[in-house]
Amino acid sequence: MARIASRINRIKPSPSSMAGQRARELRAAGRDIVGLTAGEPDFDTPENVAEAVARAMANSQTKYTDIGGTPQLKEAIVAKFRRENGLEYAPGEVIVGNGGKQVIFNALMCTVEKGDEVIVPGPYWVSYPDIVLLAGGTPVFVPGSVQQGFKLQPQDLERAITPRTRWLILNAPNNPSGATYTREELQALAQVLLRHPHVWILTDDMYEHVLYDDRQFFTMAQVEPELKARTLTVNGVSKAYAMTGWRIGYGGGPVELIKAMTKLQSQSTSNPSSISQAAAQEALSGPQDFIAERTRVFQQRRDFIVTELNRMPGVSCHVPEGAFYAFPSCAGVMGRRTPSGKVLETDEDFVLYLLDEENLAVLQGAAYGVSPFFRLSYAASMETISEGCARLLRACEKLD
Ligand SMILES: Cc1ncc(COP(=O)(O)O)c(C=O)c1O
Repeated sequence: MARIASRINRIKPSPSSMAGQRARELRAAGRDIVGLTAGEPDFDTPENVAEAVARAMANSQTKYTDIGGTPQLKEAIVAKFRRENGLEYAPGEVIVGNGGKQVIFNALMCTVEKGDEVIVPGPYWVSYPDIVLLAGGTPVFVPGSVQQGFKLQPQDLERAITPRTRWLILNAPNNPSGATYTREELQALAQVLLRHPHVWILTDDMYEHVLYDDRQFFTMAQVEPELKARTLTVNGVSKAYAMTGWRIGYGGGPVELIKAMTKLQSQSTSNPSSISQAAAQEALSGPQDFIAERTRVFQQRRDFIVTELNRMPGVSCHVPEGAFYAFPSCAGVMGRRTPSGKVLETDEDFVLYLLDEENLAVLQGAAYGVSPFFRLSYAASMETISEGCARLLRACEKLD
């Protein structure tokens, strides 16, 4: 039998990827599954990007590139940070990875030692705790409450910081809660962080452009320039440009950190795909107007799904301010009995019931560190969302 290292036994597979795979398997087995698990826009990669890719291939941009990204893509990223975030990064302060996920992975692997703590406010993106564990560190969870919009509160941050704290991970718009921070709210968190110079900030801005009701996006290094020297600003093209499969993410941060991350990447994946880098360069530099149009579409879907969810017996949903997930509470169905006689005790029970009873795939809040909640992605067509809601309503109405 293969001997698997303990570092791998410390972690679990990504629940969202597993759920997607399970939905595909059930479909292949003939079940009529409605899947609201995917964290990816259902739009196509923009036309101008596809054209740039054809040009890159015709120009034989098919060889190894610099490990941390081509100079041209780095320039496009530097320009993006300046234009959209008011942040000045030099090309040497930027790294390109195979998705934002690899950038986060590189950063934590390069900096976290055994016993180091990483503060992960909940609900959180499923991969943060496992990457921290893989690096040998300890995730310190700070669960948020729906009453406070699932936003990290300054006093809770202060309480979570210890001499072993290495990083605070911030993610807004948040996957799965949709929470965002105003400038003032970020400033209040910055006041705490300024008092603890050993704590670094990893800000995952992946959903920057999926922001509703004319809210404005802010990121920590922009709001508090004094923190820039210990902040890694992570972003990517997956969500804003509907380019999940191209696998390009990037980070801006202090040069020594970026150098270490590039060194790690040189001994793991080397450069991200040369063609994908050409695609990302065009995405960041070309027309941007379609982003707002797509966000409007997401907002209409949000309005629809939140209204529907709040009509369901036992379910209640706050209004997400960004990203493309609804994260309702299912506290009202806990303790209820399914037609087959099972009493629902956890959000996982509820999610399994929805799959068995109505062929509806969603994700349990427990995977995101907050229960009893569940996550539905509305990065799907209105037809799929509406069918998903009809199934959910039927499932709720069948409970005793
Ligand atoms: C909050 C968050 N961060 C990072 C990522 C990773 O994105 P990618 O690796 O596709 O750039 C995701 C993807 O779902 C996410 O939801």
